[in-house]
Parts: sequence; structure tokens; C-alpha cells
Amino acid sequence: MTRSLQLPSAEDSFYYRNGRLTVDGVVLDAVIEKYGSPLYVYSGANIRKSYHAITGAMKELPLQVCYAVKANSNLHILKLLSSLGAGCDLVSYGEWYRAELAGVPRARRVLSGVAKTAKEFEALFKHEFAGVFSIHVESAMEFELLVLMANAMKRPVRVALRYNPDVDAGTLDKISTGRKQDKFGLTREEILDLAITYGDDDYVRIAGLSIHIGSQITSLGPYDRAFARLAELKLELEAHLDRELEYVDLGGGIGVCYQKERPISLPDYAKLVRKHFKKTPKILIEPGRSLLASAGALLSEVVYSKERIRNRTLILDAGMNDLVRPALYDAWHEIVPLEDRGVKPIRWDVVGGICESSDYFARNRKLAVEGLPGERVGILSSGAYGFSMSSTYNSRPRVAEVLVDRGKVRLIRKRESLKDLVRQER
Ligand code: LLP
Repeated sequence: MTRSLQLPSAEDSFYYRNGRLTVDGVVLDAVIEKYGSPLYVYSGANIRKSYHAITGAMKELPLQVCYAVKANSNLHILKLLSSLGAGCDLVSYGEWYRAELAGVPRARRVLSGVAKTAKEFEALFKHEFAGVFSIHVESAMEFELLVLMANAMKRPVRVALRYNPDVDAGTLDKISTGRKQDKFGLTREEILDLAITYGDDDYVRIAGLSIHIGSQITSLGPYDRAFARLAELKLELEAHLDRELEYVDLGGGIGVCYQKERPISLPDYAKLVRKHFKKTPKILIEPGRSLLASAGALLSEVVYSKERIRNRTLILDAGMNDLVRPALYDAWHEIVPLEDRGVKPIRWDVVGGICESSDYFARNRKLAVEGLPGERVGILSSGAYGFSMSSTYNSRPRVAEVLVDRGKVRLIRKRESLKDLVRQER
């Protein structure tokens, strides 16, 4: 079987058969009838394709994919990706706990985040190598705390220093992370200072450098600039340490097609990596969105519709608490009816039931629906940063998640109950 070196699209998995929207051939109306609405549905085949596209394009490199768990942290998704060979990029002890439960090998886990606490380190240090392959340090204070704690607890740990290369990723302001005004990472000067001060610490070993310049990146230019700066700093750091680094971690950020975006060519991305890091013994990347976005859809039912002065409003049973990306980033998600009934498309504002005007999924969008209660739609490309950013705002229990993989339809997260909503309250 030849595998595509291109990321699959949402349409590769969510397509019509006999007028019914399916996920890989499984009729979604039937899934929603069984598990209720609203509902997240994921395609295992789509996740596998994305993973193989990325690793296939980079197969000549000493690569370890560390999936960015924040994109979708369901244990079954972690297990699936881990079974394919992925490790994970974690940003909290909570994510570490998930990786532990899902059985992701510790040697494939890295821990990032600007606010790792002493409490988290203490919990992690109970495990050999702090339960991870490496900790990605984001500030001098964090490094100093690690040195103190690792020495006190006699726990050898590997770290990478997260470099902020001051490169604009050309993406949305809210998801850019590699410019000097962003809160992430260390400057070149800070990194070299740390190497001089702690380069030969008994317990904390500087093993690598990492970057992550932003998310939903759709051109190679920013990667090229960031990699060039990283490669330059790597040489400087190695000169200071008088040894080679074990690895570089190039972060995530590979963009997907939500509307008309053209994702970067993965073979060209691989070429760039080779150009800058030919001799590096180990290369990590941390894709999140590119592995999950196109694999998921949020299914929802129409509750009501109404006519306003300037538009028609389609009111869904899902809300911004279930999928916050449109409200938070003005993000576009394709919306399609679950049944193609040959209705003439008209323009709608598609909204949820939350008491905020920002609670919308689309504005002035042509949709082939009539606006009748019980009509169903799929909000596509919501497998990444969909459920994982959902909340119970307005006291709405979080929705269920279903994974369709290799012909099996599995409930991988139960819908929350009203009791779940108040469980922790005294
Ligand atoms: N590594 C680190 C250190 C990160 O902070 C992130 C994402 C990733 C990897 C994965 O990036 P990706 O491959 O998914 O682009 N909620 C926003 C996206 C926030 C991304 C945060 N960091 C959204 O819905 O667009």
C-alpha cells in the first residue's frame, strides 16, 4: 500500500453515501440516534492517515513524534496514537497522568509549559527520569528550581531549553508563540547563561533545545527562519557545553485546511528539517492539530430557527461551551447537513444556546437546511481543540465522544450527567 504524504482532509472521512453523511461509511444519523446530541465523532482512519503522512514524509530522519496532547486528550486517542509509535508533548501533570493511564512509554514523553510548579516536579520526581524523556524549560527561574529539586531528591533529569527565536509564525495573534513579546521560552542570552552556570550539574543534564513558534502555520518561511536560528544557537550552546546535544524538538504548528488554506507540503517541511539538522542524533516534533483536526466533527441538532431583520438564525443544541474556536478566534468550521435532502442553500447565522453574542459557529453561511427542529448538522474539522477546550459554562454537561475505527463504533467518553456537574461542590 502506498501511503499519501499529504494530510487527509475532513472530506476524506466525512462524506455522503445515499444522501446520508457518514464517517468512513458509518451513517452519522445512526450514531447520533444511539449516543445522543450534541456529540463528537472521530475517524480513526483519518488519524492514522495523518500520522503516516507526517512520519512517511520524514522517514529518513531520526524522528520521534510527540503528539501535543492538548489538542485532544481522550485516553483512547492517546492509545491509538501511541500504538502507531507516537509519544506525547505534555503541558501539565494532568496530561502526564493521562499519558500514564494510556500507557504511552515514558521514554517518548516530553513536558513543556511556562508554569510548571514545584508541586508538579515533586510528583514527577517520584518516577525515574521524572517520568518523562525530557523536561522543556521555559525560564531561568524554572531551571534553578529544577536544579534545586533534582539535587535535593537525587533525581537525574534530562532537560531541553525552549528557545524563543523571535520569529513571527504568520498565524493568528492569539496562537503565535515564538515572537519576543510572547511569554514562551528563553532568549539566546538566557540559554547561554544557563549553560555557563549549570552546564555540568550532577543531576540536571542539558540534553536538547526546543522551539514551538505557533499553531496553524501554513507557510514554510517561518519554520525556515526559526530552524536557522535554532541551528545557530545549537552550535553556540554545544561550544559552551563542549559536547553535542542529544536532540532538538521542533514543536508543532503544522496547519490544516479549514476553509481554503493550503497546508504546507510535508516533504518540503522534511527537506527543511534535513537542511538545518542533518547531523542531529534525534529530532522530535509535536504536532497536535495536524493529527486530529480533520478527524473529528461535532454533531448537533437544530433546536429552533428564526428570522431577524438582516438574517436567518439557526439555533443548535451545541454551543460555544462545546466548541469555542469560532467564538475565541473567529475560526471557520465547515458545517454540513447530516442528510442531503436537496434543499436549496440559504444564508444562516448558526448559533448555540449560550447567553453570549459570541456564541456562534458561523455567520451569514450558505447551508442546505430548512431550519426545522431536529435537523442535524456536522461541524467539521473539530477534532483538535474541540472537546479538549470545551467547558460546562451555563451548566451544560460536556458531550459524549465516539471513535469510529476499523469498522467499530465505540463510545470513548460518556456524556456528562447533571450529577457530574455538581460532584465536587460541597
Ligand atoms: N507544542 C507546544 C509547546 C504547544 O504549545 C502546542 C500548541 C503544540 C505543540 C501543538 O501545536 P499544533 O501542532 O496543534 O499547532 N487552541 C488553539 C491552538 C492553541 C495551540 C497551543 N499550543 C486553536 O484552537 O487554534
